[in-house]
Amino acid sequence: MMQCFPGGFVWFCLVNVSALQVQIIPTQGEISLGDSKFFICEVVGDAKDIDWFNPQGEKIVPDNPNIFVSRNDESTSTLTIYHATVDNAGIYKCMARAPGQEAEATVQVKIFQKITFKNAPSPQEFNEGDDADLVCDVVSSPPADIVWKYKSDIIKTAKDVRFKVLENGHLLIRGIKKADEGLYSCEARVISRGELDFRHIKVVINVLPTLRPRQSEVNATAEEGGTALLACDADGFPEPTVSWTHNNVVLVSGEKYDVSDDGSELLIRDMKKVDEGEYTCIARNKAGEQSQEVSLRVFVPPKITFLNDQSASEFDDLVTLTCEASGDPTPSILWSFEQRIFTEGEQASWTRPDKYEVWLLNTVAALAER
Ligand SMILES: *[C@@H]1O[C@H](CO)[C@@H](O)[C@H](O)[C@H]1NC(C)=O
Repeated sequence: MMQCFPGGFVWFCLVNVSALQVQIIPTQGEISLGDSKFFICEVVGDAKDIDWFNPQGEKIVPDNPNIFVSRNDESTSTLTIYHATVDNAGIYKCMARAPGQEAEATVQVKIFQKITFKNAPSPQEFNEGDDADLVCDVVSSPPADIVWKYKSDIIKTAKDVRFKVLENGHLLIRGIKKADEGLYSCEARVISRGELDFRHIKVVINVLPTLRPRQSEVNATAEEGGTALLACDADGFPEPTVSWTHNNVVLVSGEKYDVSDDGSELLIRDMKKVDEGEYTCIARNKAGEQSQEVSLRVFVPPKITFLNDQSASEFDDLVTLTCEASGDPTPSILWSFEQRIFTEGEQASWTRPDKYEVWLLNTVAALAER
């Protein structure tokens, strides 16, 4: 390059040996999505303007949303990309100008998505017997390979057919068992960057309650202060709560009933005939509920409700003595005279025992108080 000026009778010519040179540091630009990075454009030589151009070839001006350019001094200008988006990828150019000269350099900016766990909750709960879909949603560019581990060993899906890594990276466990409970990890790898990240996922298996009535039939006696104890023992995970119903009414502790803290025992006080019937114990937990019936039978002790005294004369042909009784089951009534017990339907003794009465047996079907 030569610049010449008129000077009297001669021209003075300056030979500019230092032509403009431009370089960008760093020379390669890989930015993780959302991260920020800057590039410095260094100019050798006297540059008047140093300008940056975006991948679309437009000069970067101050009103860009997330890309800023600043001239630092005579020879450098900085391009800063804040919170990079995929739209920021491409070839950026730095151009230096001086009168009669220009020089440029470019840098390729690649935006990549580093391994990001979008959805990998812990704990994840399943019911025993379910086909469990362990969720681990990972995004990355290029896509990551997913490896599942259980208690730090890689799950070999070829060895155990119950396990399968799905297309979307989830782990499927067919018919999950209580024994499958524990700590899993979902490990994502991007081979091209040697990038690796993982999440621990605690797997909890809930087990449907099972219920065993201690007795499926309970006998009680109707009497003042009489009680009956009904009991159902429950298993399951988490520990089930047990409740009781009778005629679709939930029974709570109070004057009539006493339900134990864990619900397994129901005490019924002040036994009455009306308490007879089916009682239901219900065990519930997260996995679901089970119920069992316990039947309560209430016996009512026999009670003689009517018995008349009779006086008869020696010449009477027939005397009727009546006895009525209640109870449940219906009591049978027996008559006796001295050592003699009459059998049912017997037309008593026609012979006059000693000098006394004629006896006629009268059985009365006593009705239970229902
Ligand atoms: C309850 O009473 C019935 C009738 O008497 C009897 O068959 C049954 O064995 C009794 N059950 C219990 C648990 O005592």
